[in-house]
Amino acid sequence: MLSTAAILGCAGYAGQETLDRVLAHPELEPIALGSDSLAGQAGSALDLRLDGDLPAFVSNEEALAAGADVVFLCLGHEEAAATPIPRDTVVIDLSGAHRLKEPALYPEWYGFEHPQPAGLDAWSYALPELFPPAGPLIANPGCYATAALLALGPLAEALNPVSAVVDAKSGVSGAGREPKAFSHAGFVLENLSAYRVGAHQHAPEIAQGLGFSVCFVPHLLPIRRGLLVTCYAQATDDDLRDRLEDAYATAPAVRLLPEGASPELARVQGTDGAEVALFEDRATGRAIVLCALDNLGKGAAGQAVQNANLALGHEETLGLRLQGVLV
Ligand SMILES: NC(=O)c1ccc[n+]([C@@H]2O[C@H](COP(=O)([O-])OP(=O)(O)OC[C@H]3O[C@@H](n4cnc5c(N)ncnc54)[C@H](OP(=O)(O)O)[C@@H]3O)[C@@H](O)[C@H]2O)c1
Repeated sequence: MLSTAAILGCAGYAGQETLDRVLAHPELEPIALGSDSLAGQAGSALDLRLDGDLPAFVSNEEALAAGADVVFLCLGHEEAAATPIPRDTVVIDLSGAHRLKEPALYPEWYGFEHPQPAGLDAWSYALPELFPPAGPLIANPGCYATAALLALGPLAEALNPVSAVVDAKSGVSGAGREPKAFSHAGFVLENLSAYRVGAHQHAPEIAQGLGFSVCFVPHLLPIRRGLLVTCYAQATDDDLRDRLEDAYATAPAVRLLPEGASPELARVQGTDGAEVALFEDRATGRAIVLCALDNLGKGAAGQAVQNANLALGHEETLGLRLQGVLV
């Protein structure tokens, strides 16, 4: 069964990666590629590897109106929040515009009043391994939140909430293609810096998923892609590994590593999979849970297509990059 797809914000990093997964998908056909800056131009204007078989770019408004079976919103948060949502369509929003259930959190964490506060309840926050989609409107989790929730979500009831700390590090593509002072090579290369310390917008999303707040600090790595979180917490139970094994035994996109093995960015970069590992700190007895993923893969486009597959009734992993042993 073929489903048609429209991508809004296709010229951004998240949009281009979503297009990549859609092109690799045997049952998704891209019928509308939205980009206000590239409207009227061919796919090659975005990337020379895109040939003439693709539809030319149209404005985001035209892409929305194309009547696709699934719409991927790869727009900025405020732009996505203001987008009129089509009825009877599967919509996957890769931004943060529909992730938080509580409208009052938007001015505090995203800096804008939500224009559709009453509509937030209609969206399901879908992280397939923990919270599968529950309807056509799907809020795709943030990259850091995906990693933190994959690490801590299955353990939430076996941890002391006030002890939980999430130390996160991401490559610079997490900041998007649009140039910013802090994503400039002169700042990023051979540097490591913390940012939005204690104030990053993924903190309330992680709290919503876990049922308690964590102390969360993101850092910027001088690499293009990939993200690693190291989570520390006091355990209140001794069955943490069993809980993780139960959660991921049949999960095609998440691998629980054997005891003693640590997640690595190199193994997840360019893929839609995630690695999770559990350690016990010999000195303090604390649980240490790590998760590595690609911010543009499992942290964005890969998870969006995984959610689309589940919502449209396609096989869960179609179009995803899960095979191989890239160096
Ligand atoms: N990057 C990630 O790792 C990641 C992960 C998870 C979720 N997300 C979310 O996905 C959404 C899109 O993020 P993104 O990373 O794709 O942002 P982005 O690369 O900055 O792209 C966003 C939009 O900016 C415009 N744009 C693209 N290139 C540009 C350039 N060189 N100069 C000026 N404008 C340009 C494009 O819109 P027009 O062509 O229409 O003008 C594009 O759709 C955000 O809500 C973000 O939070 C991103």
